[in-house]
Amino acid sequence: MKTILLIALLAFAIPTAYAGGNAGAGADKAKPCAACHGADFNTPTSADIPLLAGQHADYLARALTDYKSGERKNAVMNGQTAKLSAQDIQDLAAHIHGLKGKLKVIPLHRLVQ
Ligand code: HEC
Repeated sequence: MKTILLIALLAFAIPTAYAGGNAGAGADKAKPCAACHGADFNTPTSADIPLLAGQHADYLARALTDYKSGERKNAVMNGQTAKLSAQDIQDLAAHIHGLKGKLKVIPLHRLVQ
């Protein structure tokens, strides 16, 4: 019984532990992003800038990693990510994921079954 409970608890712990990001550190690192995405990542300053508040952390980390490597091409975001470390990316992803906004994402419990 205890084992089952432990497995159930671990199953809940894994999605949040996945990113390994520190949202508090991410908030600091996100200051330069506010000029375009809005400090809340929910009020972009132009129509071509995406809403990000509440987006899944793994999606955000993948996007930032791909911009940094050049796998994903966008002159603005390639520049914004050039100096980010892997830890910066995880921290930013954790921070942005924790924000509330207008973006509708499928809840994690419906993705991981
Ligand atoms: C000068 C304006 C500007 C700044 C500053 C900026 N961004 Fe962006 N961001 C954009 C634009 C424009 C796009 C859309 C790029 C594209 O079409 O691929 C974008 C796209 C993104 C995406 C991809 C979203 C998706 O749905 O795939 C992420 C994640 C992101 N930005 C995070 C950040 C973070 C984190 C920072 C700060 C470190 C930042 N941005 C700074 C303009 C900006």
